[in-house]
Amino acid sequence: MKNATLPILLKNQKILLIGGGKVALQKAQVLSHNEMDFTIIAKTFNDEIFFTTNKILRKSFKLKDIGDFHIIIDATGDPKVAKKLVKYKKKYPILLNVVDKPSLCDFYFMALTPNLPLQIAVSSNGASPTAAKFFRDECQKLIPKDIAAYLQSKQKERDRGIIDVPQTQKELLRQQSKVFLVGCGLGDVELLTIRAYKIIQSVDVVLYDHLISDEIMAIVPKETLKLSVGKQKGFHSKSQEEINALILHYAHQGKSVARLKSGDPFVFGRGAEELSDLIHANIETEVIAGISSSISGCASAGIPVTARGYATGFSVVSAHLKGNSLNLDWIELLHKPNHTVVVLMGLSRLKEIVKASIALGVAPNKLCAIVSNASRPNQKVVTSSLANLEHCAKDIEPPAILVFGDVVKFHTLFNG
Ligand SMILES: C[S@@+](CC[C@H](N)C(=O)[O-])C[C@H]1O[C@@H](n2cnc3c(N)ncnc32)[C@H](O)[C@@H]1O
Repeated sequence: MKNATLPILLKNQKILLIGGGKVALQKAQVLSHNEMDFTIIAKTFNDEIFFTTNKILRKSFKLKDIGDFHIIIDATGDPKVAKKLVKYKKKYPILLNVVDKPSLCDFYFMALTPNLPLQIAVSSNGASPTAAKFFRDECQKLIPKDIAAYLQSKQKERDRGIIDVPQTQKELLRQQSKVFLVGCGLGDVELLTIRAYKIIQSVDVVLYDHLISDEIMAIVPKETLKLSVGKQKGFHSKSQEEINALILHYAHQGKSVARLKSGDPFVFGRGAEELSDLIHANIETEVIAGISSSISGCASAGIPVTARGYATGFSVVSAHLKGNSLNLDWIELLHKPNHTVVVLMGLSRLKEIVKASIALGVAPNKLCAIVSNASRPNQKVVTSSLANLEHCAKDIEPPAILVFGDVVKFHTLFNG
């Protein structure tokens, strides 16, 4: 049975650690973290050792110091000490670990995850502590952050005699899941954040709609489950409630889910509603900011939203409200001097926007631009006066933003 592995938890064992250098410090830290009862003997000490225990003897180690210790760790690196201990072991029942000398060890340290009371121990059987630590860290990623609190609540239930295995399994699956609201920017893969890119490549399930470009969908790995939740006009789109239910369905199975959102998830993206439902359902979430069309759509068209001397600020508005109703409350902003107004979801409501603006006395020659499919290979930009805007939009495909203000002049300047 050479090198057989027996994972054990030591209870009420006294350990003697010999040595006061860096290696001893590392072992002392492991012992201390695991709340072990240990004494250190050495002539000189690394100062940090004093934070690990108050049972410290400043002296040269002698065999008689072993006394009633049964577990000895030799971290001196001194072959003479190791030799003495190996000889001693032939007569007396001790378990010995000579650090970094696997052939002299009765036991090895395993790489442990630091989530007491839950612990995962990984051993390479002395072959490579580095490999053991690598896999320990991979295991660590599986453990939810608040596992200690969860286990405490489970302990309380157990103390009251409550053991509900199916319920616990459900709770654990839920804890393993994570939902990401991923801002996917304008459609160009190179405009994704590094975080968004990594998440898209690593999750189990991806939910996307028609605003997510084919180029971005092309980087989703083949084996990832891809679910379309919104389609272009004329086709059925899932309601927000259906989308939320779908996300929860996969989260409850312990899956990692990325809900891909165009631009930034919190800019007219209904990210807040999706997030609230998930938080309410106790699902771990992360919002990944994205490049919003409201600013970068303009940049892609060479329109600097706050060019000095042209605009001292800008507003971002939506022409759509809940239930597809038209929002024209923002039109007053078009009167504001030195101000840029960026309108999202306005392309299909141009007629009403122009009519209402002119009725409210906005100058018919007010400068406007339509930027469609910003950052994508089929990006198109037209500039126009307010009065002519609808006519200019004839061949424009969604998605598009409307930009109102003097800064629109820069499009021609920057694009020749
Ligand atoms: C539901 S909103 C989402 C906005 C998004 N969260 C953002 O920050 O850009 C959809 C609107 O964003 C705008 N949009 C999104 N992607 C665009 C793109 N590549 N080019 C132009 N407009 C875009 C359009 O106005 C579209 O109707």
